[in-house]
Amino acid sequence: MRCRKCGERAVINMRHHKLALCGEHYVEWFAAQTERAIEKYAMFSREERVLVAVSGGKDSLALWDVLLRLGYQADGLYIALGINAPIPYSDVSLEKAQKFVANGNWRVTKEDALPAPRPTLHVVDIAATYGKTIPEIARAKMRGQGRPCAACGLTKRYVMNRLALEQGYAVLATGHNLDDEIAVLFQNTLHWQMGYLARQAPVLPASREGLVKKVKPLCRFYERETATYALVRGIDYIYDECPHATGNLTNFYKTLLNQLETESPGAKLSFYLEFLRARDEGAFEAFNRTEELHACEVCGQPTSAPGRCAFCRMWDVSR
Ligand code: AMP
Ligand code: FES
Ligand code: ZN
Ligand code: ZN
Repeated sequence: MRCRKCGERAVINMRHHKLALCGEHYVEWFAAQTERAIEKYAMFSREERVLVAVSGGKDSLALWDVLLRLGYQADGLYIALGINAPIPYSDVSLEKAQKFVANGNWRVTKEDALPAPRPTLHVVDIAATYGKTIPEIARAKMRGQGRPCAACGLTKRYVMNRLALEQGYAVLATGHNLDDEIAVLFQNTLHWQMGYLARQAPVLPASREGLVKKVKPLCRFYERETATYALVRGIDYIYDECPHATGNLTNFYKTLLNQLETESPGAKLSFYLEFLRARDEGAFEAFNRTEELHACEVCGQPTSAPGRCAFCRMWDVSR
């Protein structure tokens, strides 16, 4: 397979776009597509400060890299969850994020462009801040039942929102790719979760005070595409996924959707884009209820629960 632009050997063939590209032209294409998504969905401008939630995996590091190379003011936030058994998942992923900042490959190399300023990596260590690792709090709260993922998700969302607000970032960006988005979409559709469908979007505006705007600039890229970008750019990332995620429902849906894609190239992308079109046309509007929110009596973050927010209750934070 040859690159459509220059005829060199292609590193990727994207059947759904009928496009094969070499490394150099692929990186260029990926950046241009990211920029288009940022503009199309009015995610943020070059004057705004963006906080990228980095997990040390391919998607979020690819996102940070491409944003810096496009000249956006992007800092990183790594949340140390303390998941280090049976593999040192959290420790290794922190190392990857730190290495990304230290090696400076994200610097713009084109002669006409200014070098990007060195980005900051904020690190929030959950055990050091709240007294327990994620597996520990999950065990304490769930008496050893089930996976720690729910406790983890709640904690990550809380910490991301809070740090972004406290540090004055205009938006929070996550590395969700198309495969992540359609796995959730599939699940929400299977159960006709209209409220969730109404809120699933590339951009969630800061609808209330205390909630930061959230964006997913890579939501139209297949997982294979973000992986190829990371590879071509020489980004060192953690290959393992969280040990608690193996065999979960999301991965099962991803496998199903990949089978569909093999039979019908482009099916994954059109499932997502047609959903967004229906959403834009107001298909889920009636379900976009704005909940009554008030400030948590302990931490002040917005919550629908009376008194303490779900985070403060789970972590037993009190005044
Ligand atoms: P996941 O929920 O693990 O699929 O991750 C989705 C996105 O959340 C990633 O692309 C990152 O942007 C962000 N994220 C996941 N884990 C972390 C973490 N430990 N610290 C900061 N951001 C994270
Ligand atoms: Fe949170 Fe796996 S990343 S439990
Ligand atoms: Zn080429
Ligand atoms: Zn609270």
